[in-house]
Amino acid sequence: MTNVPINPVKWDRDSLVLLDQRLLPLQEVDVRCTDAAAVVDAIATMIVRGAPAIGIAGAFGVVLAAAAAYRAAPARWREEIAPMLAALRAARPTAVNLAWAVDRMVRAIPAGDADPGPVLLAEAQRIHAEDLAANLLMGALGAAFILPGARVMTHCNAGALATAGYGTALGVIRSAYQAGRVTEVFATETRPWLQGARLTAWELRRDGIPVRLVTDGSAAHVMRERQIAWVIVGADRVAANGDVANKIGTYALAIAARYHGARFMVVAPSSTVDLATPDGAGIPIESRQADEVLFVAGTRFAAPGVSALNPVFDVTPAALIDVLVTEKGCLERPSRPGLAQLLG
Ligand code: MRU
Repeated sequence: MTNVPINPVKWDRDSLVLLDQRLLPLQEVDVRCTDAAAVVDAIATMIVRGAPAIGIAGAFGVVLAAAAAYRAAPARWREEIAPMLAALRAARPTAVNLAWAVDRMVRAIPAGDADPGPVLLAEAQRIHAEDLAANLLMGALGAAFILPGARVMTHCNAGALATAGYGTALGVIRSAYQAGRVTEVFATETRPWLQGARLTAWELRRDGIPVRLVTDGSAAHVMRERQIAWVIVGADRVAANGDVANKIGTYALAIAARYHGARFMVVAPSSTVDLATPDGAGIPIESRQADEVLFVAGTRFAAPGVSALNPVFDVTPAALIDVLVTEKGCLERPSRPGLAQLLG
């Protein structure tokens, strides 16, 4: 067990340092981004991943973009920066935290001719700090729903690695474990990137929280056999009616949870809630390369000529969600009026 906090996103002097999540848990390697193009690339290639973490990285990407544009053209830097802001915003489409953070940074751009660097850096650091504070708060709020002795299941990685630290779903699990409410965590592998196997299991093991890895296909069976009390996941975008986009496979888990009487908790900061998207049908679902499915660790296992479909998120209807935990409060059976009241 280690108490050294996990910092997936750090600002160091004039650059952004990202823990390369593609290499975990076998190697812990930092990648230094000295310009905004490198941040776009890091988000698109999953060096940094998880909705809040890519939002924070995007915010620091704006700092880098503004610094370069101001250096090159102090009189026209606001126009020069526009294509890079668009590239940052679009680096991954589903997690609304990225667009939210870039838009918040744009609103913080100061008027006048002075170097915008200090103001923008302070705003990015605020976004970073607020996310950590939200996670700690959500951890306590979510844990309060869990009765002592619970076995829980989580999907993908909604932990410290996916956020400024502590995590959303894993934040609740961490708090509930500390309070003696959780006895064991079942983490789904999460094909094809194996965020559950590589990242969630690593984080929980590091904290000394008992974790058992299960294949994605065994989730319903394990729910029944091990009497899972709660399935606890994060989110990439929560629509105005409470529909939730999260890692592919979340929808199937929610259906299985309802059938087996397990309760389903979504944990997400308000930066993940998108009141401008009316329902799940309006959430853009990222599709990634077929090769991510056809190849495992560089070796092709699919028969020659076979193609693959690789949607990396799905939408869980609000009706399957028992509780949505945000840092502004919790909503049982999330609905349009409930969300509007909580966050509008
Ligand atoms: O493709 P990823 O690894 O970025 O997907 C991450 C997830 O789906 C997480 O559950 C979500 O971003 C919430 S992270 C707190």
